[in-house]
Amino acid sequence: MTPGSPPTGNDGRPPLLVTRHLPEAVEARAARDYDARLNPQDVVHDGAALARLARGCPGILVTTSERLDAAAIAALPDEVRIVATYSVGVDHIDLGAASARGLVVTNTPDVLTDATADAAMLLILGAARRAGEGERLVRAGQWKSWTPTLLLGVQVTGKRLCILGMGRIGQAVARRARGFDMEVHYSTRRRLPPEQEQGATWHADPEEMLPLADFLSINCPLTAETRGWLDGRRIALMPDGAVVVNTARGPIVDDDALIAALRSGKLAAAGLDVFTNEPDLDPRYLDLPNAFLQPHLGSATVETRNAMGFRALDNLDAFFAGREPPDRVA
Ligand code: DGY
Repeated sequence: MTPGSPPTGNDGRPPLLVTRHLPEAVEARAARDYDARLNPQDVVHDGAALARLARGCPGILVTTSERLDAAAIAALPDEVRIVATYSVGVDHIDLGAASARGLVVTNTPDVLTDATADAAMLLILGAARRAGEGERLVRAGQWKSWTPTLLLGVQVTGKRLCILGMGRIGQAVARRARGFDMEVHYSTRRRLPPEQEQGATWHADPEEMLPLADFLSINCPLTAETRGWLDGRRIALMPDGAVVVNTARGPIVDDDALIAALRSGKLAAAGLDVFTNEPDLDPRYLDLPNAFLQPHLGSATVETRNAMGFRALDNLDAFFAGREPPDRVA
């Protein structure tokens, strides 16, 4: 479907369904420029509710918490013409089904690169240095004295960091890791040009780099190819005592395999910001002291969440002005 004149609300502004409660500045702009149907109670909607709420709305602004699979897309009212997701990841949307139906889909690349890379470093440091255990100990009033052997962790400085997926976020993680004198290896389908590689070592085959991975940072999108990628066989290729961090998507990791490796000590620790079936993560993680867990906060800074909202609105603005949205993915 090509962009064009939208159905408009009573005052001429296009009706826009905003599925979740967004930062104030984003909602203010949405309400200024659209007949915005906001969600101040921040109710999480399933596909049926979404279809009902989208009636009369040519545009919907969704988040990763809405699963727009083929059935949910088919259930949307005919008047929906653009779905702008407040995320860079688009694995929650069946892009094939959207295209087949003529829906325009946009995402929010670039603006969350730095915040997500910062979060990856937080996980690297937090997992390696047992920050969760330390914090819990202090809060429980269990810290008795400075102790030479208390909560000894894994040194980060000077270690080898292997990055699976060296897109914008992977490269930003690499830049930060260099500040910790880490030796960076990466695997992507195509080798990066030298100015992006910045001295990192490319491995065409990601399995080839696993034996080098003191730290493995997962920064690739979730696709049919990466689903369940970090399984028991691949973890076995890693050095004993390695650390895994994931700021990408939970299902890239096989939970059974990761949990077994954390239990056995094959892996020293994991830092996880994303999970299969969020927010109902595998409860076995909760009993693992060497799992440093965060509730999908990779992009959660005021600056970034505002920028994500503005980027989504930029795409909607372009569409409703009859232009090609800059971040069109379907
Ligand atoms: C994204 O944008 O895909 C993130 O996971 C949400 O912060």
